[in-house]
Amino acid sequence: MENITIPKHIGIIMDGNGRWAKKRMLPRNMGHKKGAEVFKDIARYCDDLGMEAVTFYAFSTENWKRPQDEVDGLMKLFKQYLIDAFDYEKYNNRIIFLGDKAAFNEELRNLMLEIEEKTAERDGMIINLALNYGSRDEIVHACKEIAEKVKAGDMSVEDISEESFSAHLYTKNQPDPEFILRPSGEKRISNFLLWQCAYSEFIYMDVLWPDFTRKDLDAAIAEFNKRNRRFGGV
Ligand code: FPP
Repeated sequence: MENITIPKHIGIIMDGNGRWAKKRMLPRNMGHKKGAEVFKDIARYCDDLGMEAVTFYAFSTENWKRPQDEVDGLMKLFKQYLIDAFDYEKYNNRIIFLGDKAAFNEELRNLMLEIEEKTAERDGMIINLALNYGSRDEIVHACKEIAEKVKAGDMSVEDISEESFSAHLYTKNQPDPEFILRPSGEKRISNFLLWQCAYSEFIYMDVLWPDFTRKDLDAAIAEFNKRNRRFGGV
C-alpha cells in the first residue's frame, strides 16, 4: 500500500460469527472458533503494518445473556487463545484487557493478570482485548475512581478534566482510535469505546468476521485514508 497513512489505533467489533455458522448449518460456536483464528491473524497483521494499538471487542457486558453452552464455548476459546494467539513470549506486544475481570473464573482471571503483568513494560503494539467490556460500565467505573480520590483528598474537583478523566478509563495513556471498524453489515456502536470514539471515523463492511481477511483490512484503511478529518475545524 503506497502513500497510505496507517492509523495509530483502530477498534474492531468482531461481529457476524453466528450468522457465518448458520449459513453453513454449523453450531454458533464454530463461528466463534473461526472468528478466533481471524482475530489472531488480524492482530499480527496490525502489528506488521506498524500500528500503535488495536482494540478488539470480543465479549460485552451483555453477552452473558447468551445460552450457557455458547458462553461456555467462548470462555474455552478465550483461555486457549490468550495463550496461543498472543504468543506473548515471542512477540513484543503489550496486552491489556479492557473490562471487569471479576466476572471470569479464577483460572481465566489469573491468566489475564499474568499476561498483563508479563507484557506491561513492552514498547511494541498494544493489543487491547475487550472482555466483559461495556463502555457505559467503563465510564461509571472511572467516575467512581475519581470520586473516591476526591473523597480521600487525593484529587480536587478542579483537577477533573477531559485528560484526567481519560486517564481513568481502561484505555489510559493510549491514543484514541482513529477509526472503528464493524464488519457483518450491522451499523451500531453497541456500547464500544463511547468516550474514546468522539472523533473516530466509522467504517462498516458487509463481510462477516470469520470471513474477514488482511485484504479487507487494507480496504478499510484505504477508505479511512479517503476521509477528510477536521476535528471540528474547517
Ligand atoms: C459477535 O458475533 C461475536 C462475539 C460475541 C464473540 C466474538 C468472539 C470471537 C471473535 C472469538 C474469540 C475471540 C478471541 C479473542 C479468542 P455474533 O455471535 O453476535 O454474530 P451474529 O450477530 O452473526 O449472531
